[in-house]
This record gives sequence, structure tokens and C-alpha cells, in this order.
Amino acid sequence: MGNQLYSPVLQAHLSDVEKALPAYLPQDNKAPQQLLYEIMSYACEAGGKRLRPVLVLEFCRVCGGDTARAMPFACAVEMIHSYSLVHDDLPCMDNSSVRRGRLSAHAAYGEAMAVLAGDALLNRAFEIILDPANRSGIPEEYALRAAYELAGASGAGGMVGGQALDLLYENKPVDLDILEKLQHGKTAALFEAACAVGCHIAGAGAEKLTAAREYGMQLGMSFQIVDDILDATATSEQLGKPAGSDIEHGKATYVSLLGVKAAAELAKERVQKAVKALSVFGNKADALCDLAFALLKRKK
Ligand code: IPE
Ligand code: IPE
Ligand code: MG
Ligand code: MG
Ligand code: MG
Repeated sequence: MGNQLYSPVLQAHLSDVEKALPAYLPQDNKAPQQLLYEIMSYACEAGGKRLRPVLVLEFCRVCGGDTARAMPFACAVEMIHSYSLVHDDLPCMDNSSVRRGRLSAHAAYGEAMAVLAGDALLNRAFEIILDPANRSGIPEEYALRAAYELAGASGAGGMVGGQALDLLYENKPVDLDILEKLQHGKTAALFEAACAVGCHIAGAGAEKLTAAREYGMQLGMSFQIVDDILDATATSEQLGKPAGSDIEHGKATYVSLLGVKAAAELAKERVQKAVKALSVFGNKADALCDLAFALLKRKK
């Protein structure tokens, strides 16, 4: 997907991810459970921005690591993200039949198989990063740190926990403290982990790791605020997913709490904090800096 979000170095990561990702998915068209494999691929096919894997690769590069070695980890992060979208769209969650401009997984294949494809993508992600064949040249300790980081960010204390809060607070009064936990969990935690995983694979030290986590957290918070603004202001055609879904479901968002204008202000402040955190990387982090500003102006 060509886009205006990425400067050339990030664009190169994007095309590398698009090439590498299909090969990490199970591909046996004679398997009796071939339909499951097909849905896993469907959920991961082109159409997404691939932000999280691009962040893995770029932090690895900025920390002096070998981006080719980080690729299995980048693809694993995208699989976890894609699984989260499959489950997020289910009738029992956001009940959305459109994703990335086409039918969401359950709308195309039915609920039961979509749930299973999501489960399988999550497990596949960890299978890939723990497979010794995908870790050659990476010290075991680095790979384990990355796996641990990703497991925590994806689970009850991260993405799944945030999704639980998102559902528990539908049509309920919410304060800024809860809302921050909710959005940190459902979105920022995986951004933070993606940045940290790139650093782990490069064997980065504590100072860089802390800075990368701060950038990822602030960027992820800002990203979800912009997602909420777009839900309230853009069209479904533009987004490739249903606009107006948050109001319809009574979701707690920065837009529902503060309005579009104040939410946009907050997103900008978060981006400024994200960019500030990059100072330890010097001008090597220019592309990450540009990305943070570009994401504020994104249209989808
Ligand atoms: C959508 O994420 C879910 C949110 C966290 C807001 P993206 O906007 O990154 O989705 P794709 O991968 O580009 O489709
Ligand atoms: C989803 O947030 C976050 C995750 C999938 C973890 P949203 O529900 O706002 O995402 P969209 O708008 O459906 O992409
Ligand atoms: Mg949701
Ligand atoms: Mg949703
Ligand atoms: Mg949304």
C-alpha cells in the first residue's frame, strides 16, 4: 500500500513486511483445516497501514540492529494486531461487518471460524518468534525479552485488558483516569511493545529502551485519539470501516468525553511528547519523528 504516512526508509520497511508476512502464515492448501488457514491469511492481507511492524523494524534499525533478523518479530506483531481486529469486529464486540475496505472476517466466513482464526493468529505469532529457525543470529536472551514484552502487551494487562474496559464502559460514565487506562491497554500497549521489541532485537541498552517505550506509548495514545476523531468526523468509505460506530455503541472515547477540538489538542500534545522522547537517538530518528506528525493528519 503506497501512502503518505511513510518517508522512504519506512516505506522500505513497509514493502519488506508486505513481502515477508504471507510466508509466516500456514500455507497448506491440502490440510483439512485449510479454511482456517485461509481466514488467517484473509485477516492479514494488505490493506492495513502495517504501522506496528514498521515500528519494530525502524527501532531495530535506529538501535543499530539487523532489520532482516527483526522481521519474524515484526510479522508476529502484525498478526497479533490483525487478530485483535478480527475479534474487535465480532457481533459480540463492535459488531462491524467492514474492515480494511472489505468484509470483516466473521462477515465473510462466519463467527465461529473468525474466532478460531483470531486464536490461531495469536498462537502463530508466538510460534514464529520462538521458532529457533527464525532466531538465528539473535542472542536467546534478546529474543526471550522480546517475546515476554509482546505477551504482556497483548494480554490482560495490555490489549485484551483494554478491550475488556472498552466493553465494560459502553454506555457508562467514565472519567479521564479510566479512559486513559482503557486506551493505553487496547492500543498504546501494543505500540509500546512494538517499539521495545525492535530495541530488544538490536540489543539496545536501558536508555534507548525507555525512550522507545515512551515514544510508542505516546504515539499509541495519540493514534487512538485520532481514530476516535476519525470515527466521529470521517466517512465509512474513507476509513474502510464503519464511521459513527463509537456513538452508536456508546463507547467511552476522548471525543465523547471532551469533544473533537479538545481531543485533537490532546493528540497533538501526545505527539509532542513522543517526539521529545526521540532525542536520545539524534537525527537517526528523523523518520520516526516525521511519522508521529504525519499520523496526526492521517485520513484513515
Ligand atoms: C485499528 O488499527 C485499531 C486501532 C487500534 C485504532 P489500525 O488503524 O492500525 O488498523 P490497520 O492495521 O491500519 O487496518
Ligand atoms: C480497537 O479499537 C482496538 C483493538 C482492536 C485492540 P477500535 O474498536 O476503536 O478500532 P476500530 O475503530 O474498530 O478499528
Ligand atoms: Mg473496539
Ligand atoms: Mg472497533
Ligand atoms: Mg475506532
